[in-house]
Amino acid sequence: MLDDLSEILLDSESIARRVEEVASELGRRLAPLAERDEPVVLVPVLTGSLVFTADLIRHLPQKMRLDVVTVSSYAGETTESRGATLRGAVPEDLAGRHVVLVDDIFDTGNTLSLLDGLVRERGAASVTICVLLAKPSRYEVDLRPDLIGFEIPDAFVVGYGLDYDGLYRNLPFIGILKSEAVK
Ligand code: IMP
Ligand code: MG
Repeated sequence: MLDDLSEILLDSESIARRVEEVASELGRRLAPLAERDEPVVLVPVLTGSLVFTADLIRHLPQKMRLDVVTVSSYAGETTESRGATLRGAVPEDLAGRHVVLVDDIFDTGNTLSLLDGLVRERGAASVTICVLLAKPSRYEVDLRPDLIGFEIPDAFVVGYGLDYDGLYRNLPFIGILKSEAVK
């Protein structure tokens, strides 16, 4: 698997340090809710945010619910974004709730823009967007993430939850996929 990478962009220690910082910042933003004892609803976007979410929430002691949503944006064997498709339902009971959408990466932004709209339609009181990675050079929407772990260049990356064709999610670091590894 390592042969398929041209470089390691973010090692596991850097990711762990940054995830802790992002969690602290998110915790500060959610503090007013915690004071009122209002549970926040974290909505991880599966499958890519699985690893990030698992690490992030263990640094967030406040009351929260987890309500996942599943989206697929790369249909199988392409690295080109094809727009987001929702698989399954949007969580119910979001009316009046403070929602945090958690995703692995903000690429074109179409996925989070779609979800932001759906969650607002359900009557969420607020929506905070928290992503591990962002590729500012590829943004196609007006929406911006509220919290970003790392801004990265326009390269296709895998590991720490991010996949290519369903593979590499289990790598503990984030690396750039070689073009030869792309079918
Ligand atoms: P967007 O809708 O273009 O912002 O794409 C967001 C989704 O595409 C992310 O949740 C990822 O699942 C996937 N994605 C975008 N860029 C990459 C990448 O470099 N590696 C792996 N998946 C990516
Ligand atoms: Mg995704």
